[in-house]
Amino acid sequence: MRKIEWSEAIKRKYPEPVVLVVSCDSLGKPNVMPAGWCTVASANPPMLAVCISHKNYTHELIEETGEFVVVFPNEEMEDIIRYTGSCSGRDVDKFAECGIETLKSRYVKPPLIKDAVACFECKVGGKMTAGDHTIFAGEVLASYVSEKYKYRLYNFGDGGFKTIPYE
Ligand SMILES: Cc1cc2nc3c(=O)[nH]c(=O)nc-3n(C[C@H](O)[C@H](O)[C@H](O)COP(=O)(O)O)c2cc1C
Repeated sequence: MRKIEWSEAIKRKYPEPVVLVVSCDSLGKPNVMPAGWCTVASANPPMLAVCISHKNYTHELIEETGEFVVVFPNEEMEDIIRYTGSCSGRDVDKFAECGIETLKSRYVKPPLIKDAVACFECKVGGKMTAGDHTIFAGEVLASYVSEKYKYRLYNFGDGGFKTIPYE
């Protein structure tokens, strides 16, 4: 093994799956941001953890409401990922700007994204500060899959987002 800088070695993590994290304010107005740092954190109960920068509006919203929805974006959502990752919900209504269609969630306020590959309604069950991010572990209250879209998007680390089709 050759010892190199962390910033170089960590590039070997790609391709990295990307999710969209949907949150909302106390009045129910939704916001969305892409996140690469998301993992299954528990099997029983099922939990998904997302790592959110303290600077992001999404962080403020999850702290405020204790709820979020994890969305697996479909192969046509590259532009949505780029746009929603380049601006803050503090300044723009990303759902309106991107014309993202939503569906009502059953157990949490943040909505589902209609054409997603999969959606998971989450309620924060634990959190931990990790440097400049917070790891929010969300208990999954409801899960959904699309009848139409099967393949999710991956970040290849070279500026491109692609699917990895499988059978
Ligand atoms: C592919 C991709 C992955 C990202 N992953 C994360 C992540 O895991 N955690 C995070 O806090 N920000 C991540 N970001 C940055 C946020 O999406 C970005 O700062 C966003 O504008 C925050 O929006 P908000 O202020 O409306 O919450 C990612 C951005 C992109 C494009």
